[in-house]
Parts: sequence; C-alpha cells; structure tokens
Amino acid sequence: MNILIVGSGGREHTFAYKLAQSDLCSKLFVAPGNAGTASIATNLDISVTDFDKIKEVVLAENIEMLVVGPEVPLVAGITDFFKKDAQLAHVKVIGPSAEGAQLEGSKEYAKEFLMRYDIPTAAYESFTAETVEKGHAFLETLKPPYVLKADGLAAGKGVLILEDLAEAKGELTDMLTNEKFGEASQKVVIEEFLDGIELSVFVLTDGKNYITLPTAKDYKRIGEGDTGLNTGGMGAISPVPFANDEFMAKIENKVIKPTVAGLAKENIDYKGFIFIGLIKVGNEPKVIEYNVRMGDPETEAVLPRVKNDLVDLFVHVGNQTLDQVSLDLDPRTAVTVMTVAGGYPEAYNKGDEIKGIETIEDSIVFQAGTTLKDGNVVTNGGRVLTITSFGNDFKEALATSYKNVKKIQFKDMYYRTDLGFDL
Ligand code: AMP
Ligand code: GLY
Repeated sequence: MNILIVGSGGREHTFAYKLAQSDLCSKLFVAPGNAGTASIATNLDISVTDFDKIKEVVLAENIEMLVVGPEVPLVAGITDFFKKDAQLAHVKVIGPSAEGAQLEGSKEYAKEFLMRYDIPTAAYESFTAETVEKGHAFLETLKPPYVLKADGLAAGKGVLILEDLAEAKGELTDMLTNEKFGEASQKVVIEEFLDGIELSVFVLTDGKNYITLPTAKDYKRIGEGDTGLNTGGMGAISPVPFANDEFMAKIENKVIKPTVAGLAKENIDYKGFIFIGLIKVGNEPKVIEYNVRMGDPETEAVLPRVKNDLVDLFVHVGNQTLDQVSLDLDPRTAVTVMTVAGGYPEAYNKGDEIKGIETIEDSIVFQAGTTLKDGNVVTNGGRVLTITSFGNDFKEALATSYKNVKKIQFKDMYYRTDLGFDL
C-alpha cells in the first residue's frame, strides 16, 4: 500500500526507515520530510496542518495509510478530518482523534482523566485569569519547588519549575494575565513537585487492545549534567535499566491498563501511540504527562529495536486486531545522540553544509533539521541529526555513537557527551 508520513523530524525519518523495509509498503511519501527522508521516500512540500493539500495528495497518489508524527495536526483534528470525509474515510490513520489528542493538548484535561481513573499522578489545581489570587494562595500552601504548567500546547516550553515563592507568584500572574505562553497559558495547572528519576513508556493502541513498546529515557536539557535550557531532547537510551519486570508490572497495571480502558470507556477514537512520561518516586510510577505521539528522539532509540514489520503493526491498529500481534524486540540496548546547531535552543544558524554522514557504518544516522541545497545536505533546524547505535548495554552503545559522531561535521555542531550519567 501507499503510505504518507506527516512530519519532518528524526522521528519521521525513523518511521520512514522502518516502513520502507516492509514488503507491504509500495510508495512512501513524507510531508514535508527532510533530507534523510528524501533518500528513502518522496518528500512533499506540504505543511502538517494543511489538511486540504494533504487530502489532494492522498487522493492523487492513492494513499491508504496516514502516519501522523507530531502532535499539532492531531490536536487540530487531522484524524477526524479523514474520518468525516467520504473520500478519505477508508484511509488508516495512525494517530488519535482530536478528543483523544486532548490528553496532550490540555494539561487540565489530562489531569482530570488521570483523576477519573485513579492513575497515580502529582496533586494539582488549575487556575485562570479570574482565579489568579486563588492561585497565589494555593502556591502558599505548597513547598518549593513550584511546578507551573501552561494548559495548552507550548512546544515543550510551557512548564516552569521555580524555587522561589515570589517568583512563582509573578510567573503565574504573567502566564494568566499577560499570556506569557499565548493562548496556551490562559489556564495554568499548578502541581505538586515529584522528586525522582524520569522515564517514558510508549504504548501502541487500537482503542481496544495495546502493545507496550520499549521504555526510553530522554535527556532534555542542553547542558551536561542536565543543566541549562530545555530542548526537544538531546538523546535517548532504550531500555531504561532501572525499569525491571516488577516496576514494569506496576506501570502496566496502575497506568497503562486504566489509560487504555478509560479511553475505551469514554468512546474516544484512539488508534495510535500513547507516550507516557513518568517519574519513579520511591518504587512507584507517577504520570507527569501524556503525549499522543511518539517521542523525538526517543523514537530513534525505541523503533530500531522493534523487529516487527511496522506496516503490519499499523494495519492491525487500523483493524483493531492488535491482540493478534506479539512484539519481537531486539534485546540489545539502543541509544541515540543528537547533534544540534550552535546556539540551539535559542537562535541558531541554518544552511550550513553537513559532511560525513555516508562515512558512518556501524550506527544509523537519522536526520532531523536537514534539507537539500544544490545536492548537498545542509542544516535546517536546531536539532540536526541523531546517531543511533546498539550495544549489550547503554555504555557500549554510547561508545559507538560517540565514536561516530566525530565523523560528522557542520559549523558549530554541539552534542552532549554525558548521556546516561544518571543511570
Ligand atoms: P511536561 O511537559 O509535563 O513533561 O514537563 C516537562 C518537564 O518538567 C518534565 O519532563 C519533568 O522533568 C518536569 N516536571 C513536570 N512535572 C513535574 C512534577 N510534577 N514534578 C517534578 N518535575 C516535573
Ligand atoms: N523528547 C520529548 C518529546 O518528544 O516530547
């Protein structure tokens, strides 16, 4: 069948890499894609939210499966757009309906969902411009650090963790009355701070059945030792060594099962990935967030370990027959090391030539912010490309990625050299 992937990052390059390996995949398209996806699929110059253009190409190219990478088109209702259109309704869409996507699109919606199904999470209250004084009073009842979350999508920037009460009050006011994060912070969730180590689990569900994909740990800060500004993610390790069978059973029973059952109970059309961000507090998992897609760069470490045919997995999702699938995993550890343009996550340069990709043999290069210019691969985003390697443990896998990253060159390239430092 012909397949269209929506998105342009390392996650979408990884999807393309896996889907292209399947005998079930005829023509593969990516909108808009990057220089990496251009080498294995046909890139289409279409924005991820231009549903009308996406419809045109789906009809013109007889596309039967749509794989949605990022959250923005999901929250904007791309799945519903396909379902409601008689010409598109037959297309298998991997990604939840707009209602399901609210698990990521609204922190308050997610917290209410977690509470309804008694899924462990941080205590919270939410506030608006009308209740900002109550928000200040609530902050006074909490111990530092204070966790403030913009309700809506804020490209990973909407969470503030503050040590000082006065500063927390000021930021709350700024978010609610000055729209610090635009519309996204018209509502703010204030949460109890959870102290522990983070990990993520990835679930693929057809709305009734699910499979649990490997765990991963992402490194979000720009600086060594988890310091400095937040980024989209500087690297990932899969599996997470401390997520042993006993802890995974807790996650399964206390988090995954009630999540999938809750979606089904509420008749929410959800065929796609659920990315559950967790903190291990003592020996207990607590949910810090839901995302309604795969993580980036977690995908670049998780998916290469999945030996199943990805098209076949997605067909089962579309047909609600995931109960017939058993997951075949590479037991080795996979890691991915992200290279970024100097200055990222603040201002950075684009258009710099990237050299050395073709010299790498024992790792997989997944491209993110890249494009083709006069036949050369050049930088086109903050996160440029990521290097995935396997090993018997994360140290061995990292050694291979760190050896190979030295073969890549572009102006002001930066990467973290301390992934796994906390494990
Ligand atoms: P989120 O966008 O909700 O994942 O939050 C971004 C980051 O903030 C998370 O990856 C955590 O590192 C941190 N964080 C979020 N909520 C909490 C919390 N309740 N306690 C401690 N850290 C948190
Ligand atoms: N790497 C974090 C995310 O994809 O949200």
